[in-house]
Amino acid sequence: MNLVILISGTGSNLKAIIEYINQKNLPINISAVISNNPDAYGLTIAENHHIKTYMIPDQKRDIQTYSQRLLEVITPLRPDWIILAGFMRILSEEFINNFTHKILNIHPSLLPKYPGLNTHKKALANKDLKHGCTVHIVTKELDAGPILAQQSCSIHPEDTEETLKIKVHQLEHQLYPYVIASLLTKND
Ligand code: GRF
Repeated sequence: MNLVILISGTGSNLKAIIEYINQKNLPINISAVISNNPDAYGLTIAENHHIKTYMIPDQKRDIQTYSQRLLEVITPLRPDWIILAGFMRILSEEFINNFTHKILNIHPSLLPKYPGLNTHKKALANKDLKHGCTVHIVTKELDAGPILAQQSCSIHPEDTEETLKIKVHQLEHQLYPYVIASLLTKND
């Protein structure tokens, strides 16, 4: 099983995935990590694990042009799955159709609540009692593809955006590697 992982930032989910695969000795190969952000710490994490990295800068490219460039880089890598791990660009419909039901995303809310950005802020503003994360298949509707798994936590009166971010990250680091491993190593 060949994965390509797309990131934009700290790459803590990437790190959790790499460590899970290594610890469990799973037959999963991460053939590349791709970032749209040259400063993404996830690039360093990948390099430290001897994973090939690509930096494909945004350069103000529109969704179509950027996705086309991504396709050119990813297609020869022949991934079985593409894993979005904090990748902050929207992908074109053409890109998604090239990998139908083979792109996974993790989103920091209990979808269908709060697609898009600022999920922790929205959960606090709505005085929600629960928050969490969702692993879903990527379809052309933003954050609206089939849900594979969710993990939730309580919101306490003293919680802030920052504490929720930490709590949700902790859930993500358990859930995402587990779902990826279950999906990719199941016998069908
Ligand atoms: C995560 O909260 C994920 O849900 C969202 O972006 C964040 C990425 O964090 N899509 P990291 O780069 O994996 O630390």
